[in-house]
Amino acid sequence: MKAVIATRNRGKLRELQKLLADFGLKILPLDQYPAIGPIEEDGSSFFENAMKKARIVAEKTGLIAIADDSGLEVDVLNGAPGIYSARYAGEKASDEENYRKLLAVMKDVPGWERGAQFRCVMVVYRPDGKWITTEGICRGRITSVPRGNRGFGYDPVFMPEGSTCTMAEMGQEEKNRISHRGKALKLLKERIRQILY
Ligand code: IMP
Repeated sequence: MKAVIATRNRGKLRELQKLLADFGLKILPLDQYPAIGPIEEDGSSFFENAMKKARIVAEKTGLIAIADDSGLEVDVLNGAPGIYSARYAGEKASDEENYRKLLAVMKDVPGWERGAQFRCVMVVYRPDGKWITTEGICRGRITSVPRGNRGFGYDPVFMPEGSTCTMAEMGQEEKNRISHRGKALKLLKERIRQILY
């Protein structure tokens, strides 16, 4: 069975393909469907954005579509940057510009108030309109300087709870075990039968 992953983010695509490798689903990247233009993420929650991406891709390809929307929620910023994580420092900001802005905004915030979490919402949508959704959260804290060069996004400044390294210092498998996306996908694997058959 084939499914399309509704993302053009290379980092996420790599992670999701690895996480779904043992699953018997042939995962096609969205790049194979150039006719599907950019899908604007204009929802007011991770769920709305994931749902919109999955529904449009399923309707346009006639295949099962998997979409996720994710981001970083910082306690002291009342959940910001949240759904705006990818464009925190501006519409076309790089990962580094985004995390540098976060470090600058938080430069006077003491260690005990630097709690944060990554959140990921996934939606699997069937062309006939049936869907399921799952969510994963990874708690941690924002470091004062960036460390590591793996992963993507805010990984260099996010230290997961119980860890002494940042997410950018972890290998992919270690990250998948504890990450918001890993957790959301684990739940999805448990429940995807409801929608495949
Ligand atoms: P999305 O592509 O709209 O889901 O935006 C997600 C944004 O949130 C990314 O561009 C990153 O800035 C951030 N983000 C989501 N997941 C991760 C992660 O696992 N590590 C680091 N940053 C992440």
